[in-house]
Amino acid sequence: MQSVNEYYSAVQLRSDRWAALREATDALAQGGNDRHIAAVKKRVEQLWTALEVIEPYWAFPGMQAFDYMRRQYASGHFEDLAYSVHRALRALTSGAYRRRHIPLDKDSSEKDEQDDEAMLSPEARAMTKPYFEVLIVDDVNEHQERWLKSNVTRMRRPEDPFQYEAVVVPSLEDALIAVLFNHNIQAIVVRPGLTLKSKLEMPLLSRYLDHAERQDELDSLRPRDYGPELCRLIAKVRPELDAYLVTERSVEDIAGLDLGICRRVFYNQEDFMELHLNILRGVQARYKTPFFTALVNYSKQPTGVFHAMPISRGKSITRSHWIQDMGAFYGPNIFLAETSATSGGLDSLLEPHGPIKEAQELASRAFGSKQTFFATNGTSTCNKIVVQALVRPGDIVLVDRDCHKSHHYGMVLAGAQVCYLDSYPLNEYSMYGAVPLHDIKKQLLELKAAGKLDRVRMLLLTNCTFDGIVYNVERIMEECLAIKPDLVFLWDEAWFAFARFNPTYRTRTAMSAANVLRERLRSPEHAKAYEKQKAKLKDADDATLLKTRLIPPPTARVRVYGTQSTHKTLTALRQGSMIHVNDQDFKGEVEQSFHEAYMTHTSTSPNYQIIASLDVGRRQVELEGFEFVQRQIEAAMSMRRAISTHPLLQKYFKVLTAGDMIPEAHRESGVESYYEPEQGWTDLWDCWEKDEFVLDPTRVTLAVGGTGWDGDTFKTQILMDKYGIQINKTSRNTVLFMTNIGTTRSSVAYLIEVLVEIAKSLDDLLDDASKMERLAFNRRVRNLMEDLPPLPDFSRFHDAFRADNGTPEGDIRTAFFLSYDENNCDYLELNGSLKEAMDAGQEIVSASFIIPYPPGFPILVPGQVVSQEILSFMRALDVSEIHGYRPDLGLRVFTQEALAKLGRAKLATAAE
Ligand SMILES: Cc1ncc(COP(=O)(O)O)c(C=O)c1O
Repeated sequence: MQSVNEYYSAVQLRSDRWAALREATDALAQGGNDRHIAAVKKRVEQLWTALEVIEPYWAFPGMQAFDYMRRQYASGHFEDLAYSVHRALRALTSGAYRRRHIPLDKDSSEKDEQDDEAMLSPEARAMTKPYFEVLIVDDVNEHQERWLKSNVTRMRRPEDPFQYEAVVVPSLEDALIAVLFNHNIQAIVVRPGLTLKSKLEMPLLSRYLDHAERQDELDSLRPRDYGPELCRLIAKVRPELDAYLVTERSVEDIAGLDLGICRRVFYNQEDFMELHLNILRGVQARYKTPFFTALVNYSKQPTGVFHAMPISRGKSITRSHWIQDMGAFYGPNIFLAETSATSGGLDSLLEPHGPIKEAQELASRAFGSKQTFFATNGTSTCNKIVVQALVRPGDIVLVDRDCHKSHHYGMVLAGAQVCYLDSYPLNEYSMYGAVPLHDIKKQLLELKAAGKLDRVRMLLLTNCTFDGIVYNVERIMEECLAIKPDLVFLWDEAWFAFARFNPTYRTRTAMSAANVLRERLRSPEHAKAYEKQKAKLKDADDATLLKTRLIPPPTARVRVYGTQSTHKTLTALRQGSMIHVNDQDFKGEVEQSFHEAYMTHTSTSPNYQIIASLDVGRRQVELEGFEFVQRQIEAAMSMRRAISTHPLLQKYFKVLTAGDMIPEAHRESGVESYYEPEQGWTDLWDCWEKDEFVLDPTRVTLAVGGTGWDGDTFKTQILMDKYGIQINKTSRNTVLFMTNIGTTRSSVAYLIEVLVEIAKSLDDLLDDASKMERLAFNRRVRNLMEDLPPLPDFSRFHDAFRADNGTPEGDIRTAFFLSYDENNCDYLELNGSLKEAMDAGQEIVSASFIIPYPPGFPILVPGQVVSQEILSFMRALDVSEIHGYRPDLGLRVFTQEALAKLGRAKLATAAE
């Protein structure tokens, strides 16, 4: 049996233990000599012990059935036992228990339908009532537990839209474990009899408790507060769930308490029908998809089409002689749902009043924002909308320089004075990390010293980066607000929409951090801490401020925006994205300009299918986001572990760990890797709580330089052409495998198989290689692993685009439009005229965006001076990998005359 330490999650452990039990009980049923039977019995007993601390948290098969199997074992009915275990495991794996009762005894009178429900058609699945589990928290004896459950069962009515089963646990601790372990739980009923401590001991499960609350705070609770406290604690870890508190305390007593996710308080312990109706209503509130439903209903109405869109209702296709295949491929529904109408139960994205408005409100609840806006043209558009809404010409914006290109264009459109911040480089892998907090504070303090703080409007950062580096969002906002209390934050979470649905990840999302900050700034403890620090730092110099963890004034404004490509990490059609707003000044100051910006960038014919998919994607995450993200993390973790422990794979590949991708100075926890063969798994929680940067483990960067192929060749010629595996990001010596909520254990297994096959074929190749071939291979590897040109920093804007020489911000817009006039531009060749001009001491200024792959971000923007480091970097690359560079002409630069003319014009304006 694998040791508990080897499991990343208790869910994996559970399914493996059941599989092992099936194997062992099969062996028992088959019989054998005494020694064999004794050994198998020992194993079965170990498995009973392992499972008895896990099963009380799940409704299926349930403790009653579990005990029934144990009795079968005790009475020696091994064949019957093997049958029961088979049935239970099959139902667990196929999910059949969600749809019907599963009899475990052979002689059951219930018809034994086929178990392979996974084979059900999607239509048949859609017809079944969704299933969930309700957690009842009460310390009851067996008899009372049966009574509680039968009361719940009695309430079922044929017209109920969902079906559920109850799980009963006795204590607050058990309830916390249950909601973090059993993803089927959608509602919790907290009854007055609950106790505090769990009696079950299982390290993998008790670890969950550390995530929820500090042990000393739990221990100091009074029994009467267990119930309310549980509701509050669940709100921290699973805010999407509903709780119902049954209490004997008076209404007045309860009224003043923070009841977290509690939806209703019941004073009558036996009002089961009322409870039942509330539970269903709570789940229905999440299940509801106003726009998707409106679109489905619309598609069923008979309508005559006398507006645009010949494709609407498929008319232009069904009558066609030439495009019938399109109709056959997509099926009729998509065309029935295509329309340009905004009436008939539908709504307009540009001025939503009906189901789109409601769908956006539900998304806002799900993602923890104050307002949420849908976008049908990706996060590229979301970013431009937010920047245009908030940034006025001349405002200073601090931007991470390896941000997505939509931000650079956003800066051009808004006329921002851009102050680029350098991310730490990972030269070994030719990729960037993220911007250290120290550098952000330093830049803000410099702008303050230059008297420009009032013009600083926004800090814009990418969280998380393509490669998976995640910021400590809360800390950054807190410390920046201490320097500039009305700073606006735009967090580009294009890759991070899923993060909200895991308790650990959630703490590092923009919306969650904004909500935490809002609450903190209101608290008297915060005001006290602020006053104390203020007095202490009265005459502090910048060096001290940089070293100190700064506390923002209680009057600071929380102004946070998050943009997410829902389509990248959750269920949504391509281009489906969301803008989440958590800005205390949105209504007073931004709403109008936001509306204008939204109008600027949004099509007047937004795609209804995308909007409907955002609505359904939101339903999914509110009901099963926790489960899916958990599975995704598990899949990624098993992939990390399998690659890093396989002896053959270790010869050619390396999975990059947090230690490889985050310098030590930014990893306060000291955690280097999430898995160590000797120690097992490190709990993510520790480093995610403390470290300046953490690595999102669901993005697995694999160093492939050891194979002698560069990242791009490995991607296209090996993974894609030979094995049909698709990825999109590579660096010179790495490839990135991204897992998502659809990644399965078997797709991970296939990838590992492929990597092993590649490694074996390399072994074979080298076995037969001549001395010269070997030498060439080693040289290729060295070349890929060692001779990498260092990634250059942002040099600076040319003086012609800067207001003064004091601080680095530059006017990218003027530079961008200056290049529209051909006469202002020239082309210089990398290996010829450009180098010569620079060697001769000329200042060469780029007239366009230059984006080498890797790293895939502009190393030159319009108006930026070409430094020696940038030149060397570009010269070390193959020019076909440099977007924006014309191999036939060279690098587009500004003429010296154009720069001089602009400089004179600037001087003249200054003199006026
Ligand atoms: C950090 C970042 N922001 C924004 C975007 C743009 O997102 P979308 O493709 O949804 O327009 C991307 C796309 O890759 C990205 O990596």
